Amino acid sequence: MIILGIETSCDETGVCLIEAKNNKLEVLGNQLYSQVAKHQEFGGVMPMLAKREHAKNLVPLLRKCLEEAEHNLTPTLPLTNGRGKKNFLPSLDKEGLREVENILIREPELLTELKKLLETVEKPAIDAIAVTSGPGLEPALWVGITFAQALSTAWDIPLIPTNHMEGHILVASLEKLKNEESPSKAKETPHFLIQKIKYPALALLISGGHTQLVLIKNNLDYKIIGNTCDDALGEAYDKVARLLGLPYPGGKIISELAKKEKLEFPNKKPPYPLPRPMLHSKDLNFSFSGLKTAVLYTLKKISSIDDKVKQEIALEFENSVLDVLTKKTEQAIEEFNPQTLIIGGGVSANPQIRANLEKICQKYQIKFLVPEVSASTDNALMIALAGYVNILAGKKSVIDFRANGNLSL
Ligand code: KG4
Ligand code: ZN
Repeated sequence: MIILGIETSCDETGVCLIEAKNNKLEVLGNQLYSQVAKHQEFGGVMPMLAKREHAKNLVPLLRKCLEEAEHNLTPTLPLTNGRGKKNFLPSLDKEGLREVENILIREPELLTELKKLLETVEKPAIDAIAVTSGPGLEPALWVGITFAQALSTAWDIPLIPTNHMEGHILVASLEKLKNEESPSKAKETPHFLIQKIKYPALALLISGGHTQLVLIKNNLDYKIIGNTCDDALGEAYDKVARLLGLPYPGGKIISELAKKEKLEFPNKKPPYPLPRPMLHSKDLNFSFSGLKTAVLYTLKKISSIDDKVKQEIALEFENSVLDVLTKKTEQAIEEFNPQTLIIGGGVSANPQIRANLEKICQKYQIKFLVPEVSASTDNALMIALAGYVNILAGKKSVIDFRANGNLSL
C-alpha cells in the first residue's frame, strides 16, 4: 500500500511517500522544509507566517517527493489519451475541478500551483493520503488539510485524518533495516521494520506543545495519565534559551551546552541550583513554567551572562528536567507495569534524555522504543505511518473534516 503523508501542524512542512506491506515500510520519497529561519527573528513560531510558508512550499515539496519516488511509483494511468495528447487528469472533469477550486477558495496561490502540478504530473499510484488534522496551530493545520482534501478530490484517493501525537508515538516503532536485508529496487531507499509493540506500553511525549505520559493498553488505545500543568517541555527549553540570548528553537543548543559543561567539569557543584518542579507530587503531572521563572530570577542576580554562565545554567536546567522525567516515568512504570517504553516528540532527540530513559528500561527490563533522531522532530513519515496503521485497523476515508488545534489522543 502506498501512502502519501502530509504534515503542517507547526513550522515544518513535510511530505512523504511510503510503501508499506505487512510489517515492512519503505520510504519512497521524503521531503521536509523547516521554516525555523523565518520564525527566528520573532523568537517563536508565528501561526500566520507558518500558514503562508506551508502554502508556498507544499506543491514544490510534493513535486520533489514524487520525483524522488518516480522509479518506484508505477503510474496507474496510460501516458496518452490515444490521440497522442497527454492525458494527465482523466479523473478530474469540470465538476471535479470546480470542487478543487472550492476547497482551496481561500488559498488562491496554492490553488494555482496545485493546478499546474495536476496538469503536468500523472496521477500516481497512491492508495491513501494521510494528513495531520491536529493538534497544532490551526491556521497551519488548515493549509495542509485543504491541500490534502484538494489532492484527494483531484486524484480520487482516500483521505485519512491523522493525529500528530499518534505519529510521534508510532514512528518510534520503526527499526531501520540494513540495505542488504531489504529487497533493493531501482533506487536505494530507506527500509524499516515496523516493530510489534508489546502492550501495555507507556509513552513519554515531549515536544514543543506537549508533555504527556500516555498509557497504551492496546493498538491505538490511549489513556493520558500525566500532563503538563503549564508549559510543554520543548517550550521551556526554548524559553530558557531565549533568556540566555540563544536563538530559537533552543532545545538542541541547550542540550549541547549542557553536555559541554558536564564533559569539562564532571564533578562541579552547580553554582546556580534550580528547583525540580513537582518531583514529589503524587500524580504523574509536570510543570515547567516555574523552572523557567527560576532561571529568569537567577539570571537577574548575575551581572554578566557570559558563555561560562550559559553552560552552567544549561546543565543545571537539563539536570532538573532529567530528574523530573526520570522520577515520573519510573512512577508510571511502577504503577502500570508496561512492557514497553516509547519516547517521542522533538525533545526526545535529546541524547541525555534518551540515555537516561534507556537506563530506566534496563532497570525495569522493558523494551525501549525511540525514534531515529531525524524522525523525533516533526516530519511527514510519522504521519504516513500513522495513516497506514489506522487503515490496517479499519479507519475509513473521510473527506470533510476540520482542523482541531487541541485534538487529544
Ligand atoms: O515535536 P516537535 O518537532 O514540534 C512540536 O510538535 O512541538 O518539537 C519541537 C521542540 C522544540 O521545542 C525544540 O527546542 C525541541 O523540540 N528540541 C529539543 C532538542 N531538539 C529539539 N529539546 C531538547 N533537546 C534537543 N536535542
Ligand atoms: Zn510534534
